Amino acid sequence: MTQNQKKVYIKSYGCQMNVYDSDRMGDALLDKGYQKTENPDEANLIILNTCHIREKASEKVYSDLGRALVHRQNSFDMGKRVFIAVTGCVAQAEGREIVRRAPYVDIVLGPQTYHHLPEMLEKAANVVLENPKKGAGLVYTDFPLESKFDFLPEIYEVQGVAAFLSVQEGCDKMCTFCVVPYTRGAEYSRPINDILKEAERLIVLGVKEITLLGQNVTAFHGMSPDGTKEWSLADLIDRLSLYPEIQRIRYVTSHPRDMEQDIIEAHRHNKKLMPYLHLPVQSGSDRILKAMNRKYTSSDYLNLVQQFQDACPDIAFATDIIVGFPGETDEDFEDTMKLIEKVKFCTAYSFKYSPRPGTPAATIETQVPEDVKDQRLYRLQALLNQQQIDFNESIVGKTISVLFEKPGKHPGQIVGRSPYLQPIHVIGSKELIGQTKQVKITSREGFSMMGVLVNE
Ligand code: 5AD
Ligand code: SF4
Repeated sequence: MTQNQKKVYIKSYGCQMNVYDSDRMGDALLDKGYQKTENPDEANLIILNTCHIREKASEKVYSDLGRALVHRQNSFDMGKRVFIAVTGCVAQAEGREIVRRAPYVDIVLGPQTYHHLPEMLEKAANVVLENPKKGAGLVYTDFPLESKFDFLPEIYEVQGVAAFLSVQEGCDKMCTFCVVPYTRGAEYSRPINDILKEAERLIVLGVKEITLLGQNVTAFHGMSPDGTKEWSLADLIDRLSLYPEIQRIRYVTSHPRDMEQDIIEAHRHNKKLMPYLHLPVQSGSDRILKAMNRKYTSSDYLNLVQQFQDACPDIAFATDIIVGFPGETDEDFEDTMKLIEKVKFCTAYSFKYSPRPGTPAATIETQVPEDVKDQRLYRLQALLNQQQIDFNESIVGKTISVLFEKPGKHPGQIVGRSPYLQPIHVIGSKELIGQTKQVKITSREGFSMMGVLVNE
């Protein structure tokens, strides 16, 4: 590496889809001579890959942009000009507004146009030649007819033995609170041959666990490689599990409406498919579920949970919950608490409802006051935390499989993950990294678990 090596700092906000996109942007820039850095001080290019799902995440971008500007100003003294790009869902939703609020931004690209980043950078460099202190202000947020996946280079590097593979994007479900259908666009499944090619590339790079990603991953569908049959997510999972190198498969995020019999069956027969399901419920009140346009009832959800448990008795559930959706009464909230008591989630992500511009729920008049949302969230999170602790306690004394991922903080220690994504610490050789071993869980320390290797 030379002193003049260009470096890119990418900050990823929000979901795993954004983490995947950030990695792909890094790969696309490698061809242009950029190396990734974790340190914004040494960057020539700062990319904020943003999330629009809640107002807090969205607004954070502007404070981070202010910091990026400081990096640019400081770097003039070092004889360089730092380029600033905003990508992701805020870029898609706000487009030119970003350049209006932060005129020093050079490039704004949506989630479907980030494959244009290398050429946009060249354009931006030309635009700022005359006045490097001004932003280039280039905005490209259309939904192009071409798919970015056809233009991105193959994956160049991966961090560790567990990797994401994006198989589906966008959403047509139109939940009334959600911006995703507007920022990511309509549902789209990647062609199966491309997915298999990418999986093979991940295998070459040493990956042992693949998480299939999609905003609505269970809506995935595609023509089988021989062109004779429509494949579902379950078919894809069964095909991927034929690769001997792949030890574990996961998928995220699912919609209860899309859970067909074959994915339930996959959890019964496919031993590489982890017994863990992220199934956002959002609310336990039928009235609120209807207003959210989720198109299932709380008892539909509980039935589904039961079906998965019947097929795979050791399955655990994770979920997303929103409190304070417009019109949510105390009774509705109690229904949510009751549903949670019944399911007993191993992990949950819970949020206060945040009105998003352009979504139907944002204009409902019966918005819930902030202090009521706070109180509900507080009670909800107390229950969810207790469920997580109970779940973690429940595996103490059991022997479970662990895929080792990295060395631990203490000498001689290695860390891996259980089927339920819990970090498991054991004393063991670094040679075990990338291998799945049986571990007896001995204790819980906070959200980490300790264990010992079991002689097989
Ligand atoms: N306010 C609060 N939470 C939201 N989510 C999506 N939109 C909103 C919103 N407007 C949550 C949902 C979703 C998760 C990714 O974010 O629970 O499943
Ligand atoms: Fe948003 Fe609903 Fe689509 Fe999920 S299913 S991305 S919450 S619209």
